[in-house]
Amino acid sequence: MRVKETRKVIIDCDPGIDDSLALMLALSMEELHVEAITIVCGNCPVEMGFSNAKKVLKQMNRLDIPVFKGEERPLRREYVNALDTHGADGLGESFLPEVPGYEQSMSAVEFLKMRFGKRGRSMDQEREECSVIALGPMTNLACLIQQDPEAFAQIREIVSMGGNFRSYGNCSPVAEYNYWADPDAAALVYEETAKIGKKITMIGLDVTRKIVLTPNLLEYMKRLDSQTGTFVQEITKFYFDFHWEWEHLIGCVINDPLAVAYFVNRNLCSGFDTYTEVETEGISIGQTVVDSMNFYKKEPNARVMIQVDARQFFTLFFSRLLGAEEKTLDLIEQLVPDSGYQAREVRS
Ligand code: RIB
Ligand code: CA
Repeated sequence: MRVKETRKVIIDCDPGIDDSLALMLALSMEELHVEAITIVCGNCPVEMGFSNAKKVLKQMNRLDIPVFKGEERPLRREYVNALDTHGADGLGESFLPEVPGYEQSMSAVEFLKMRFGKRGRSMDQEREECSVIALGPMTNLACLIQQDPEAFAQIREIVSMGGNFRSYGNCSPVAEYNYWADPDAAALVYEETAKIGKKITMIGLDVTRKIVLTPNLLEYMKRLDSQTGTFVQEITKFYFDFHWEWEHLIGCVINDPLAVAYFVNRNLCSGFDTYTEVETEGISIGQTVVDSMNFYKKEPNARVMIQVDARQFFTLFFSRLLGAEEKTLDLIEQLVPDSGYQAREVRS
């Protein structure tokens, strides 16, 4: 079902090309009130991610949303960026003009402690609940747990783009980048989620690999909204080349926007509740160990998504980003392969 009321969210990300598309989508959805953006080291260093988030906010005319700089390195591992995938500027070598200033008075973790911590709640008891959509390594969230676990427990819901169940990894045979880049952080977030009896929604490679932006879809975007389509082309051209070179794919997998779309329309994906851990050592470091057969007899701490209606995703993505009526987007069916799963909700 689609969330009916406006839901407050904080987007924790490492922009990054697909993070940027996810931010654009989130800022186009009236169901979401994006309270803030927090930046984590991942695809690119934090300063670069901060700079890119501002460029996206400028593009969306939303320089009212605060952007907080987060952790500059993983909890324990050496920091490994993904600039080979996202380009020297982290935004597909679009080299868009810098947006000056916009510095905040506190770090991302300080902000999260203030927003979710006792002090923040006491200041304004009516504060609506707020969720986190995590699109990068979960270092900021892990630091929040280490510094104020009660604050972490106040996060209404976490939807994380990361991990993989049966799909192969993109950083090793078995590990996905966000959890591989900081496995200790991912492990701590899943452990703490288990401890407080909640479930993190895992939007992993099993579903995001089916979300492929192709040249024809890009052309369709430009026909529907030339300015937005051209911006998307500008920041994804490098990503197209990367996917051709590494996966012989004509197009690019846009992982992060699916986490945002799913947050608003829960029919887009289906999966199952299960206990999940993240490996922090050895050859399979960063792997999500998804106990789908309940060997460990532990309470579920994760909602692992394994099916996605790719056509419905692109219909939502296009309609919100380009301001097009869903029912007019008749070419989506022709341009997006059937992903083998129909979102239950009948298309309006
Ligand atoms: O593995 C894909 C994920 O890692 C995406 O979130 C991408 O932006 C990178 O952060
Ligand atoms: Ca990301």
